[in-house]
Amino acid sequence: MTEQYWERVGSLREFGDQDRISVIIDDVPALIIRSGETYYAIEDVCTHDGQPLTDGEISEGQIECPRHGARFDLMTGQPKCMPATQPIRIFAVEVRGEEIFASSDAPEENSSATAEKQSPNQAVQPEQLSEEKPAEAGTTPVSELAPMVGDMLDELKKVVDPELFVNIVDLGLVYDITEENQDVVVTMTLTSPACPAGPQIISQARGVLESMPGVKSAEIKLTMSPPWTPEMMTDDARDQLGIF
Ligand code: FES
Repeated sequence: MTEQYWERVGSLREFGDQDRISVIIDDVPALIIRSGETYYAIEDVCTHDGQPLTDGEISEGQIECPRHGARFDLMTGQPKCMPATQPIRIFAVEVRGEEIFASSDAPEENSSATAEKQSPNQAVQPEQLSEEKPAEAGTTPVSELAPMVGDMLDELKKVVDPELFVNIVDLGLVYDITEENQDVVVTMTLTSPACPAGPQIISQARGVLESMPGVKSAEIKLTMSPPWTPEMMTDDARDQLGIF
């Protein structure tokens, strides 16, 4: 078994009145976050579209991406809401006296520490987005399992806005996906309330989802709150549209 490598990344004095400090761990930008007596270490990059989380609001053990509002669990790194579907990287952190150490070797359960009592071996059950939990394997045929949110997003990428020629996921039109008993509800918007392609996009979105194994029905709920802005596009979409 290889020994875990710890590097000193900062000091408690650097916090001042702040609840976070920016550091470098394993050559990547990271945040050390203080919440009460507990410290967390996370990579400072949103997995949705690369936005730094530096200024993200922190509450109830989660940090919110300031760009499109994805939230991540500080302990596990798991996404808690759309549009992010992938976890952020987390690191083990230990406070030794006034000094803060972090380790890039950390398994997820080693992600936080307290100043008084280090907890590198605290057992944590990583939480998943509720809609991403597959049904009990072994008791249900695979064809009857509801698909994962990531797979549904991949399918929705087949739906292309006929005016912009960019798929609706990269355009940032899909706000949320929930699934219960294989009934899927997608909350999404359009680039404008009067978008003439709206009915076509909605029909295609419903169609691609209902053709997936494990989906009984798909409902598309339109919302104009928040209204779509070009800021919601991914870098891929901006590349395709030649926006820099
Ligand atoms: S870049 Fe973070 S939610 Fe989009």
